[in-house]
Amino acid sequence: MLKIEVCLSPQLIHLFELKGKIVVVTDILRATSCMTTGIASGVAKIKPVATLDECRALKKDGYYTAAERNGEKVEGFDIGNSPYSYMEERFSGKKIATTTTNGTLAITKSTDADEVIIGSFLNLSTVANYLINKGKDIIIHCAGWKGNYSLEDTLFAGALVEKLESGFELGDDASFSALTSYKSAKNNLLETILGSSHAKRLEKHNIRKDIELCCTIDKYNTLPYLKAGVLIKK
Ligand code: MLT
Repeated sequence: MLKIEVCLSPQLIHLFELKGKIVVVTDILRATSCMTTGIASGVAKIKPVATLDECRALKKDGYYTAAERNGEKVEGFDIGNSPYSYMEERFSGKKIATTTTNGTLAITKSTDADEVIIGSFLNLSTVANYLINKGKDIIIHCAGWKGNYSLEDTLFAGALVEKLESGFELGDDASFSALTSYKSAKNNLLETILGSSHAKRLEKHNIRKDIELCCTIDKYNTLPYLKAGVLIKK
């Protein structure tokens, strides 16, 4: 039987064998929600990079630049990390380079996998349907917060496990605890996530509407897919 595992933080990804598997990277607040929104809104390519310098340098290759640190936009870049920015008409058909505190790091640490796809509540069912048909073991890689556990990413992992559990064996305790956490929070998802440490951090920057959007299930049937280091529409 195919197996599903959950990696709760990029600090733990070295414990997982990625080869032969599909990795779903998730950073609900807000990196992977931005990437899903961007690709669904017509952005042609999104290039995730780990550092500010790498991102800045891509300007000369025709990329718009997006950068966030500690929930805030970084000075000197075109945009920060709000999904609403990724909806802007000026980015349609264009390419964006992005670096964030956790999400882009998690993506760059997943590239030994056969495939890397982007998961958020916004495209939950699209991700599940893709995985059901692929016939490969899965690792859900939670971006967390600076190496630590994050509630919202784990709840997404639980939501995806719930959709897949009939066809996959739960390969570790993290997948089981993510599932039980999601089952107890699914009827109050937004309220539950508003209690998370990063949601509180973002609320200090008056970013409530981003949180509400990032907690919306199945707004898009779009699958951002990593190909040669760049996210494109699958
Ligand atoms: C991250 O990568 O840590 C998040 O996406 C941060 C944010 O957008 O607030």
